[in-house]
Amino acid sequence: MFHYKSLGELQQEAQDLKVNLPFSDKTSLLAQPLTISGKTIPNRIVIQPMEGCDGTADGRPDELTIRRYDKFAQSGAGLIWFEATAVWEEGRANPRQVWINDQTLDSFKALTDRIRETAVKAGQPVPVIIMQATHSGRYSKPHGTPEPLIAYHNPIFEKEKPVTDDRIVSDDYLYRLTERMGEAAALAEKAGFDGVDIKSCHRYLGSELLSAYTREGDFGGSFENRTRFLRTGIRNAQQNTSSDFIVTSRLNIYDGFPYPNGFGVGTDGSITPDLTEAKKLIGILHNDLGVKMLDVTIGNPYFNPHVNRPADIQPYELPESPLVGLARILDCAKEIQQAYPGLAVIGSGLSYPRQFADQLAAGALEQGYFTLAGFGRMAFAYPTFPKTILAGEPLDPRQCCIACGKCSLLMRYGSKAGCVVRDRLYTELFKEASKGKTPVVC
Ligand SMILES: Cc1cc2nc3c(=O)[nH]c(=O)nc-3n(C[C@H](O)[C@H](O)[C@H](O)COP(=O)(O)O)c2cc1C
Repeated sequence: MFHYKSLGELQQEAQDLKVNLPFSDKTSLLAQPLTISGKTIPNRIVIQPMEGCDGTADGRPDELTIRRYDKFAQSGAGLIWFEATAVWEEGRANPRQVWINDQTLDSFKALTDRIRETAVKAGQPVPVIIMQATHSGRYSKPHGTPEPLIAYHNPIFEKEKPVTDDRIVSDDYLYRLTERMGEAAALAEKAGFDGVDIKSCHRYLGSELLSAYTREGDFGGSFENRTRFLRTGIRNAQQNTSSDFIVTSRLNIYDGFPYPNGFGVGTDGSITPDLTEAKKLIGILHNDLGVKMLDVTIGNPYFNPHVNRPADIQPYELPESPLVGLARILDCAKEIQQAYPGLAVIGSGLSYPRQFADQLAAGALEQGYFTLAGFGRMAFAYPTFPKTILAGEPLDPRQCCIACGKCSLLMRYGSKAGCVVRDRLYTELFKEASKGKTPVVC
């Protein structure tokens, strides 16, 4: 359990575990601006995409969505990576997932305008805003119950819940989806976003395709085929938008499942990260397609959440210390950053070390692990944390995320996600949603 009263105690435990966590007190490094495609990100703090599952039935941001982005706008963060936004109804992860289309565009435009106005009114810099365009694939629940659309049968995921063959998407479907990603990028630009993310992470459809070794046809088997969706999606997005619109991806560089069901591992059946293919893909994105910034992440929040977001408690016995998991996320990001020094790599997983997170982010910047520091759960718990860091003040442990997992549990319960511990509104929602449910934490 997280019990560290001082950074020294945490560092000692990391040393005992033989993992390297790069802490530094130079938190002013986080205040440096960065220009990408002519757009200036005013500092190095990124709020990672955090889905609230609280849009309207037709996919518009609703009251709680607006409440969340008001807080993020006032936070001082330099980059807001707007949450998973469906591009097709059948690919929505829940019936309240936001969904961009011609009818809902005006609400997204109102929201991006509001984020900028709110930041200015709060005396904070105007953040760069990227929209995450998604198809939830295997995790699609557009009407509240699973309606999976998969790239290939995966025995690890389907042991208890088999998926029928007719749920495997066709090549034609995937070609249409790459076109839709291009259209979604154009909609995102019209809606006032600064960029679009062709989502390829956490084993949603774009991410699952990267390990579609056993799939036949144009999107399976070879490296070229497995990466076709992302490469084509990015190209379509670039063709449909202006040259200063940022086209990027949140990319799983390591899934944590063995070959032939996981990306970012060797073919020897182990689950040790092997980033050879991830680096090859990123080389193509960066050098050939001109991608200048990439948000890298690992794991699957449904099957190995300890890989994706370190926590003290998971719905299964933890196979490792959260500090080991944290170091893995950082080491993976570092390997990419060092392979491509000119690419602005965004790191993840920084919420676990609580009040020491700012020093970890600073150390990681200083030692070249990444270019921008991404925070997820911390933004739910402590939305003013960027301002605090940028003012050179220490983070308040009483406001930090405690990685209890209840924000994701709210999602699993079909409710709306937020911090159950620090935000009373979600304490109440949690009480309601968990009534009669077995108390699990995930
Ligand atoms: C409630 C919840 C919602 C999330 N929604 C998204 C999302 O929409 N898109 C995405 O790429 N990641 C999503 N994530 C993952 C986070 O962006 C982040 O990668 C993860 O929480 C680890 O970072 P942290 O340790 O700073 O929380 C979500 C995580 C949680 C807990």
